[in-house]
Amino acid sequence: MAHEFKDISPNATAGAKVTNWFENRFPTAFDAYRVHMSEYYAPKNFNFWYIFGSLALLVLVIQIVTGIFLVMHYKPDAAKAFESVEYIMRDVPWGWLIRYIHSTGASAFFIVVYLHMFRGLLYGSYRKPRELVWIFGCAIFLALMAEAFMGYLLPWGQMSYWGAQVIVNL
Ligand code: HEM
Repeated sequence: MAHEFKDISPNATAGAKVTNWFENRFPTAFDAYRVHMSEYYAPKNFNFWYIFGSLALLVLVIQIVTGIFLVMHYKPDAAKAFESVEYIMRDVPWGWLIRYIHSTGASAFFIVVYLHMFRGLLYGSYRKPRELVWIFGCAIFLALMAEAFMGYLLPWGQMSYWGAQVIVNL
């Protein structure tokens, strides 16, 4: 559907004119922002339990950012992986902090996601009309477990080796 071109008063502020210029050239982005953010009518019964979805998103971003920094010094090689992790811990500036944020973040992810799923069970968020949201959530949870398992293997020390042994047998 074609969007109406929105005129703006010549007396408007410079900021409003720039916004108007963009809105007239990319109206769908502005519509989406209005529908999903600024004019989204949030139910009044949101409470403490509803923060965990946003927290999960925050932890995901932290994991991606710290993971990208870790991979700059990690060596994906059975013979070199462990020593490259030791190198990150001892010689890379702030490497120990980045690694600890990433490993603590992995555990935090599960705590936050379990609380998020608990909310879903508590309030019946899995019921009509949100069945698909729940099913996608289950798929995300499976992907999360796979990702955490594979991340645990990366240092390729005793813990990773025996962890792999246990899970593969399972
Ligand atoms: C990386 C993992 C996940 C992220 C980033 C995430 C993010 C979010 C966010 C931001 C919301 C809206 C705010 C809220 O209600 O908390 C939400 C809602 C929801 N999530 Fe998740 N989620 C994740 C995993 C899951 C899992 C594992 C499940 C269930 C198996 C799930 C089921 C739901 C449901 C049913 C809703 C709708 C709640 C409602 O409208 O009443 N999510 N999610």
